Amino acid sequence: MKVDVLLGLQWGDEGKGKVVDVLTPGYDLVTRFQGGPNAGHTLEFEGQKYVLRSIPSGIFQGNKINIIGNGVVLDPALFKAEVEALEASGHPLTERLKISKKAHLILPTHRLLDQAYESAKGSGKIGTTGKGIGPTYTDKISRNGVRVGDILHNFEEKYRTAIERHKKLLAQYNFEYDLASLEKEWFDGIEYIKKFELIDSEHTINNAIKNGKKVLAEGAQGTMLDIDFGSYPFVTSSNTICAGACTGLGIAPRNIGEVYGIFKAYCTRVGSGPFPTELFDETGDLMRKNGNEFGSVTGRPRRCGWIDLVALKYAVMINGVTQLIMMKSDVMDTFESIKACVAYKINDVVTEDFPYSIDEKVEPIYAELPGWQTDMTKMQSEDEFPQKFNAYLNFLEEELEVPIKIVSVGPDRAQTILR
Ligand code: GDP
Ligand code: IMO
Ligand code: MG
Repeated sequence: MKVDVLLGLQWGDEGKGKVVDVLTPGYDLVTRFQGGPNAGHTLEFEGQKYVLRSIPSGIFQGNKINIIGNGVVLDPALFKAEVEALEASGHPLTERLKISKKAHLILPTHRLLDQAYESAKGSGKIGTTGKGIGPTYTDKISRNGVRVGDILHNFEEKYRTAIERHKKLLAQYNFEYDLASLEKEWFDGIEYIKKFELIDSEHTINNAIKNGKKVLAEGAQGTMLDIDFGSYPFVTSSNTICAGACTGLGIAPRNIGEVYGIFKAYCTRVGSGPFPTELFDETGDLMRKNGNEFGSVTGRPRRCGWIDLVALKYAVMINGVTQLIMMKSDVMDTFESIKACVAYKINDVVTEDFPYSIDEKVEPIYAELPGWQTDMTKMQSEDEFPQKFNAYLNFLEEELEVPIKIVSVGPDRAQTILR
């Protein structure tokens, strides 16, 4: 069998966690391929809400094996807290969760460096989640990283070498810190990780493919935050796109099957950086209120705006999306009319091609569609869809040239409609 990939097409928080949970019964293995605790993937079922950061979102459905892949960066202290909270709420998972030995460790000093770099950027700061993501991936690429597998070999020496190098960098930034207090919980986390099976996950996953097992790969963040194709430099430090699943799990491109692209019926962004369709008026406030658009990791209010089809088409292209999944249409259930950006005007030239940079010169050109003004949150099948909602779906499918196969009308697992 091939590996199906599920990833975000916008600036993250599209609802990936919810849909991975919904799709998991159809898979044998669920794997995370990049990112780290910068992610916050929310799932709701049976009146409970869970936010996952490093653990794949397939952990709640049956006894499926979940794997943290080599492309992920892992913070032992946060990982321990995440697992303990889930186990305390009645979800034992130690036997079902495996970790790639090739995943890189986020050291306590990576978190400090993240803060130091952000402060030094002043008003040009990225607005990172402060979890040490950039510095950890930097060390990986510059061949200075410490990996999960190192816990088993000469660990102290590798750790100390990295820390000494980081201390010199922090001194250059005149950054003050208390490392000892961070190290205590970090080393507790390292001890904790040893309870899990640390594996060569590329073998596990490729053997599963060979043996006809179904594998789902879960992305974090979104295409517009991709290190190569996102709104650089206001991006995260990994490849969030479909190709990232190949490098982040060790699977060949020819073994990729379906590519599920997730998007919200509108658009949000957290942190700094350009956002052409951003709204600063009461419509944006209503999206934030109805959609509860506050970061699941940092609690920061998310910036809200209309759907951007120029950016979405680009994301569909880069990822080779085969099926679209539309989330949170219920947030606009009361809207009289709905806008969708269909082109950009840049220096008086109209384009539908996503440009090199989306700075303040980009002026969105909108199509306007009538709102469906119907509460859709209790609907169970597409037969119940209002005619104006179907018109909105048809319009998006024509623009994006990919079918919308799932519509989500609320945060609960049950509020999901397959088409
Ligand atoms: P992820 O990072 O892509 O997994 O998304 P997040 O969990 O960060 O953000 C999505 C938020 O929207 C969460 O609070 C979800 O519970 C919620 N959510 C998901 N789908 C829907 C939906 O269809 N409607 C509404 N109203 N909320 C949703
Ligand atoms: P999920 O998986 C939304 C954003 C941060 C910041 C930029 C870089 O829940 O969709 P980083 O800490 O990665 O160096 O921050 O990326 N960001 C996210 N925004 N959802 C996420 O993850 C994000 N992970 C990082 O806000 O702008
Ligand atoms: Mg999120």
